[in-house]
Amino acid sequence: MKIDQIFKNNQAWVSEKLGNNPDYFKNLSEGQNPEVLYIGCSDSRVTAEEIMGAKPGEAFILRNIANMVSNLDLSAMSVINYAVSHLKVNHIIVCGHYGCGGVKAAMQSQDLGILNPWLRSIRDVYRLHKQELNKLDNEEEKYRRLVELNVQEQCVNVIKTADVQIAYRSRNLTVHGWVMDMETGKLIDLKIDFDKVLKGIMEIYHLD
Ligand code: CO
Repeated sequence: MKIDQIFKNNQAWVSEKLGNNPDYFKNLSEGQNPEVLYIGCSDSRVTAEEIMGAKPGEAFILRNIANMVSNLDLSAMSVINYAVSHLKVNHIIVCGHYGCGGVKAAMQSQDLGILNPWLRSIRDVYRLHKQELNKLDNEEEKYRRLVELNVQEQCVNVIKTADVQIAYRSRNLTVHGWVMDMETGKLIDLKIDFDKVLKGIMEIYHLD
């Protein structure tokens, strides 16, 4: 993608929007009221808005390598705080994707420099679910399952935040775990049973 082309594309986009509605950007500048917070991978092929058909103003977005939610990550914690407590989104989506380079790297033992501490959390997901994963002989199957389990664990990390715990008590807020299959382009709802998943950790974290 050429940098010059980006500005041409932008001009075409502006013209198209104004052609449909001369007040489009005036309305957009008045404020946002998104219904969803989407947390996904930085992978250039998994474009959050495009795969969901979300228009400007419809989704609050956080993307990082391997769609991680760490309570030490000031960016992730700030995004969740703002989306839940100020914008009052009703849905939080954690969306992983098959073929995730971050998850693949975490399965290997090589030294990845600055990425080591970031990907270590995925290695912890592997350790937590070692029994299930080690039953799978096929490496590709194991890799796909780790992508799904990583989504599940990051959803649990979302649920453990104070903002989500407070919102759970007072209003409707739903956490969703999804995976995007790049080979088909489809979004898959993992339909994670959080009641079941959280049962084992409730006594430790005192979650609602
Ligand atoms: Co990825």
